[in-house]
Amino acid sequence: MRILFLGDIVGRSGRDGVTARLPELRRQLSLDLVIVNAENASHGFGLSPGIARDLMGCGVDVITLGNHAWDRRDLIGEIDGMPAVVRPLNFPPGTPGQGSTVVTLADGRKVLVVNVMGRLFMDPLDDPFRLTLELLARHRLGVTVQAAVVDVHAEASSEKWALGHVLDGKVSLVVGTHTHTPTADHRILKAGTAFQSDAGMCGDYDSVIGMQKEAAVARFVRKMPGERLQPAEGEATVCGLMVETDDVTGLARKVAPLRQGGMLSGAMPDF
Ligand SMILES: [Fe+2]
Ligand SMILES: [Fe+2]
Repeated sequence: MRILFLGDIVGRSGRDGVTARLPELRRQLSLDLVIVNAENASHGFGLSPGIARDLMGCGVDVITLGNHAWDRRDLIGEIDGMPAVVRPLNFPPGTPGQGSTVVTLADGRKVLVVNVMGRLFMDPLDDPFRLTLELLARHRLGVTVQAAVVDVHAEASSEKWALGHVLDGKVSLVVGTHTHTPTADHRILKAGTAFQSDAGMCGDYDSVIGMQKEAAVARFVRKMPGERLQPAEGEATVCGLMVETDDVTGLARKVAPLRQGGMLSGAMPDF
């Protein structure tokens, strides 16, 4: 199975970059499934239901979220009716929405997609290791699902690596989001799970993690309440990675980064 995962879509720049490129990428890379993190898609903060639908309409199959999940409050009332939108698994019991979803492709193959948040330098939440393992006990890779992808929305690379090792051999891909900075550590772990610490953002990199740099820099320099952060509006680099999995084992055969447009160096999977 050929899966593309794109990191945090930030504002209009990120949305435009993804919607302009995705239809052609789907064809060119013969993608079976496209997953995007869209916690910053609505003007940098949250995801409106309308933008969620627009992304689905241009070739996105599953949307994951993170600490900005509820910045757009209109999603809270609608998320239970959106089975392809996944919020972090380790939010408190009773939180609207779901922490994972199973997608069925047109040919019947099934994919589990999980969103879970780290706890280092983040809000205190339930244990991402234990909760993910409990979930995976109900979805067996290569048996009930042909592939499984875990989006680890976390600040610290160490926590992401640790979760990668704990899940190695149990899922197809563990990929980080949230730092908005793509890492060059994509690899297949010892037991067959593809891994990358962070997918990077889909947004304008002439910025501070997607936000206009003047106001974002002023916050660090002046230590005074400043103007509200606004997304940078230059051309996005669409950032993520592609993985090819074996349908029998559910494990990864190949993984490669994808970076297109904007100011980062380009990268395109060649399998
Ligand atoms: Fe983000
Ligand atoms: Fe985040």
